[in-house]
Amino acid sequence: MSHGRLKRELHSEELLEIIFDYASRITIENNLDRLLMLMEDMGRDMTVADRCTLWLYDEKTDELLARIPHGMEKIRVPATSGLVGYVYQTANSLVIDDAYEDKRFCAELDVKTGYRTKSVMMIPLTNKQNQRLGVYQVINKLTADEVFTAQDVKYLSLAASYTAQALEAVLTNIEMEEAQREIIFKMGEIGEVRSKETGAHVKRVAEYAKFLAMKCGLSEEEADLIKVASPMHDIGKVAIADAILNKPGKLSEEEFIAVREHANIGYNLLKNSNRSILKAAAVIAKEHHERWDGKGYPEGLSGDDTHIYGRIVSVADVFDALATDRPYKKAWNAEKILAHFKKERGCQFDPNLIDVFLANMDGFLQIKEQYED
Ligand code: C2E
Ligand code: SIN
Ligand code: SIN
Ligand code: SIN
Ligand code: FE
Ligand code: FE
Repeated sequence: MSHGRLKRELHSEELLEIIFDYASRITIENNLDRLLMLMEDMGRDMTVADRCTLWLYDEKTDELLARIPHGMEKIRVPATSGLVGYVYQTANSLVIDDAYEDKRFCAELDVKTGYRTKSVMMIPLTNKQNQRLGVYQVINKLTADEVFTAQDVKYLSLAASYTAQALEAVLTNIEMEEAQREIIFKMGEIGEVRSKETGAHVKRVAEYAKFLAMKCGLSEEEADLIKVASPMHDIGKVAIADAILNKPGKLSEEEFIAVREHANIGYNLLKNSNRSILKAAAVIAKEHHERWDGKGYPEGLSGDDTHIYGRIVSVADVFDALATDRPYKKAWNAEKILAHFKKERGCQFDPNLIDVFLANMDGFLQIKEQYED
């Protein structure tokens, strides 16, 4: 290790400062990747290490999973192999002055990243019920003697006992959201089956909506929320008669009044949940047929009184309805679709969104090809 990078041990005020600084950020973080990054930075700074890696146990594959430092790529190791596997299995902490002297060490990651591991310290990461969540690992002590001390074990254990709680809260949330995602998608498919549309329609609408959300500057998180919530947009169609939904020709005025109910029906099915995905799904179900000019349904909202999620899914839904065959119409070609969206800019649709759509129509057509029925 180059001497230019040598550091000294922390004074206790410096340590406290680090803990307070990270603790305040960790407490409010609800994104797993960012939380892991914060925990890694905190572990690294508290022990004056060069690197810190958090290995999380993946039940499905019986592996330990980590992010490669300074990248988004993931690495997996069997939960029984290497130093990290040893710590996970035995729940003992481990301090090693030179990893290459230890036959349990598996240099695969060093080979892959060109990094040279020397001193290593690892401690098991457990929750309050003593279930093992993974392994907290720091590599290469940056002080002159280059080795981790008993004091470092104490510091990292302190960080671990604190961060494990934040981590578990996020993981629980992710599990619940995964379950919700599955339910939402299944329910969305049911709605579509009733109206002779395949699951491909809900998939495409979800992809178009996320694509448009990203292109109009929403965060990736929000775009993902729209993506997972939008498959439910027509769930209210479950309550509409087959004879109407699958009618080959134009609807009568009465039939169209009945169809329009699907927006409120969907909203009422979803509105009582406190979960973020279902809340977003409720807004989308209710507002995806509102129009920019206020002539839509069910409320006749205009402009940005319609939630941005509703405005986005409206574009995505109509694009897919026009670009594919429906029981009552043949698919339109790209040119005709383009003309329609230009004509309806500022009438049916949010003009800003249409500008974004028009600039990115290739992306829409690509998604359409990718998710053909
Ligand atoms: P959908 O088939 O998913 O269509 C969604 C939206 O795409 C429609 O909402 C409309 O805004 C747009 N769209 C679809 N096809 C066309 C078209 O040929 N021309 C134009 N200008 N826009 C089109 P909308 O109109 O509120 O309809 C809601 C739902 O009602 C439709 O969902 C469909 O299930 C049903 N529906 C609407 N019109 C008819 C019809 O003439 N016959 C039948 N059988 N069903 C219809
Ligand atoms: C090991 O556990 O043996 C390798 C882990 C690492 O290199 O980070
Ligand atoms: C779809 O794949 O769901 C579109 C087919 C249709 O709208 O009839
Ligand atoms: C907004 O209106 O919330 C911004 C996104 C858009 O409409 O283009
Ligand atoms: Fe609809
Ligand atoms: Fe639809």
